[in-house]
Amino acid sequence: MMMQRADQNSSGEILVVEDTPASLKLLSELLGNAGYLVRQAPDGELALWSAQARPPELILLDIRMPGIDGFEVCRRLKADPALSDIPVIFLSAQYDTDDKVRGFQAGAVDFIAKPYQSEEVLARTRAHIHLARAQQALAASNAQLTRTLEELGTARAEIVRSERLAALGALVAGVAHELNTPIGNSVLAASALQDRSSAFFGSMEHGVKRSELERFGADTEHATTLLLRNLHKAADLIECFKQVAVDQTSSQRRSFELATLVDGMAKTLAPSLRAAGAELRVESAGGLAMDSYPGALCQVLTQLTSNALLHAFAQPDSASRPASGAITIRMAADGGAVRLEFEDNGAGFPAGGLARAFEPFNSARMGRSSGLGLHIVHNLVTNVLGGAIELASAPGRTRFAMRLPLHAPALGRASNLW
Ligand SMILES: Nc1ncnc2c1ncn2[C@@H]1O[C@H](COP(=O)(O)OP(=O)(O)O)[C@@H](O)[C@H]1O
Ligand SMILES: [Mg+2]
Repeated sequence: MMMQRADQNSSGEILVVEDTPASLKLLSELLGNAGYLVRQAPDGELALWSAQARPPELILLDIRMPGIDGFEVCRRLKADPALSDIPVIFLSAQYDTDDKVRGFQAGAVDFIAKPYQSEEVLARTRAHIHLARAQQALAASNAQLTRTLEELGTARAEIVRSERLAALGALVAGVAHELNTPIGNSVLAASALQDRSSAFFGSMEHGVKRSELERFGADTEHATTLLLRNLHKAADLIECFKQVAVDQTSSQRRSFELATLVDGMAKTLAPSLRAAGAELRVESAGGLAMDSYPGALCQVLTQLTSNALLHAFAQPDSASRPASGAITIRMAADGGAVRLEFEDNGAGFPAGGLARAFEPFNSARMGRSSGLGLHIVHNLVTNVLGGAIELASAPGRTRFAMRLPLHAPALGRASNLW
């Protein structure tokens, strides 16, 4: 528990410890007249008790006293965390160098020589009270700064997490929509099959001709084929979405083939793109085995795609808006790395937007959009994937070119980035 400190608005509260009553009186009057609040203690025991009851801002401490001497009082003060930062000035005979060495060793900040010179007592007292207050203020603002930094770190992690979930939400919506077609087709085929079967079995009691049996067989096979094809399509879509969703939400490192990962991403992104009248092409020779963080990579591609939809293709009043939006993702081996390009044929960056593209809170739609997407992309590429990213943009063509090591460096302090 923090003990209550003396009021810092006054000129200062000082504890004077002296066993000689005349000296105690002299010092108390001198300091009292200078505006300090003075407390007195005639021996070491009472001095410690008084300091613990209410820590003063400064202690003037006589060395030679009956009972516990000044050195021991000072050592005990310094050993108590609640009192250790109170400056202690020793009162000692001018000629005693030995005392001075021992005093500094015990933790004193200064000495005042006996017999007392008023000017010296006041000057040293004022200086040390000022110093102690400055140190306290510094410590307080340091603690505040540390707290603020911690809060910022937490807030940042929170934002990154919510951006991730938002991106995943968009994918879920697109995939759910995309599942409508194969599942609707399957329902149609299954109910046609059901109708056809009950009609056939209903007519069986009148005897079945061979030609009718053959037609029923052909119809059944057709419906089953349709059913299977559509169910496979749905299962495929769910399977690849499942992988993307797992990757997107995890920060696990694993081995994967880049083209396969990007194909899976493309399939889950396609529905949202189609809804916006845009298409996504993937150009790859394959064979790019990586040992890296697929989640970070999925995040990057999702952010870039949602940016293309939002900023490149959906500018209602832009002359450079393309007739039909197209995104091309290209990848190729490049030494021990892979060059991954993400290009759109959209409106291009707004004037002046390019230089600050990767800065946080920088959005052409400020207030409606977080302006964090590209900042997160930059962080993931450089700090998690261990690569680099460049951007070039003009009306009709915006290209993000990334160079990513096949084998990502170990995540150090960067792991809290996501
Ligand atoms: N593909 C793009 N085409 C044109 N401008 C873009 C593109 N991607 C990003 N931008 C510009 O960069 C800005 C910052 O993007 P981002 O950091 O993702 O923030 P936000 O999408 O929230 O605006 C966008 O507001 C937009 O002006
Ligand atoms: Mg964005």
